[in-house]
Amino acid sequence: MSGTYRIAVLPGDGIGTEVVPEGVKALQAVGARFGHTFEFEEMLAGWAAIDAYGTPIRDEDLDKCKRSHAVLFGANGDPRRDEINVAERPERALLRIRKELQLFANLRPVRVTPDLVPVSPLRAELVDGVDLLVVRELTGGIYFGQPSRRWEENGQRRAVDTLVYSEEEVRRVVRVACELARARRGHLTSVDKANVLSSSRLWREITTEVATEYPDVTLEHQLVDAMAMHLIREPKRFDVIVTENMFGDILTDEAAQLTGSIGLLPSASLGPEADEHGHRLGFYEPIHGSAPDIAGKGIANPTAAILSAAMLLRSSLGLEEEASTVERAVALALAERRATSDVVRDGTAISTSQMGDVVAASIGDVAA
Ligand SMILES: NC(=O)c1ccc[n+]([C@@H]2O[C@H](COP(=O)([O-])OP(=O)(O)OC[C@H]3O[C@@H](n4cnc5c(N)ncnc54)[C@H](O)[C@@H]3O)[C@@H](O)[C@H]2O)c1
Repeated sequence: MSGTYRIAVLPGDGIGTEVVPEGVKALQAVGARFGHTFEFEEMLAGWAAIDAYGTPIRDEDLDKCKRSHAVLFGANGDPRRDEINVAERPERALLRIRKELQLFANLRPVRVTPDLVPVSPLRAELVDGVDLLVVRELTGGIYFGQPSRRWEENGQRRAVDTLVYSEEEVRRVVRVACELARARRGHLTSVDKANVLSSSRLWREITTEVATEYPDVTLEHQLVDAMAMHLIREPKRFDVIVTENMFGDILTDEAAQLTGSIGLLPSASLGPEADEHGHRLGFYEPIHGSAPDIAGKGIANPTAAILSAAMLLRSSLGLEEEASTVERAVALALAERRATSDVVRDGTAISTSQMGDVVAASIGDVAA
């Protein structure tokens, strides 16, 4: 069934402005092929917004994001401007969006197809066929717990951060992970540090309770230190991995390295339950940053942004067939080695926009 969808588009800084248009291109090709109308509204965020308006994101733009079906984002930041004193840092745009849209579940799929095996820093037999999904809790834990401060005592500098979780915060993200596992291979790995931390013992208890509601999902628990090892030694063993905010931050960067290029990996951040039409407001972005070292050269890999658009179709709009069509078009471009220089290293690489054109052009062909 065709539909009309409002998509907020925030390219941000650096290569965000180069790769996000390629995600939009893919959505336009999907619209043309499947009869959907996407109404794109572009807004500034990060340094781009600070330069234009003096704030990393305007309140009115945040409101527009809230009223859209989904948000497609690029990246924020520029380390060359880190010393500049501004009232609010560019990263504040992302933090405000996450908080105000209540984006508590961050999804990062990692897939190593045969064509990507040579790009991985790991041995082929370890990574060929890796297909895992990390679900990271995004709005709780030690990044948000209070107190978080430093002080001086007896001439010693001291500091404290607080790792706190409520039962409900754990339950809602584990439910998301169980639903995803159920739609995949039915295996869920929960990562914690239950041998040391009270918050982790609560995490494990709630996770075990929630999993009883999903008899078709097999649950295993792993300690985070062991998990860091397993992810490198036997990544193929994992299906869906769920964990709290800080462990997830670290493990997702480790998992990203299995593919060999950060330019390949998309992410989704989901908020509260879907509405009666199956629409769930979500935020979609490549996992990479603004990459100032390659910005402006037209060589950034747009795959992460295009696959983020595919996740948007699936998770916010409920358009599974359209999402897998985009994924097939990307897989075909990579298989034919029509890709940027981070992946194709024999001198035949194409530019960011050329790769976006290749993917968009084949969306009509690979549709089922
Ligand atoms: N979500 C975000 O907005 C986000 C995430 C990470 C970093 N950042 C910010 O981005 C800036 C740069 O950070 P960084 O250099 O640590 O990380 P980065 O991800 O921007 O770049 C790391 C390396 O990967 C390469 N790379 C990244 N994306 C690529 C792509 N699509 N294609 C090909 N190569 C790619 C870069 O050229 C660089 O060598 C910083 O200001 C940082 O704070 C923002």
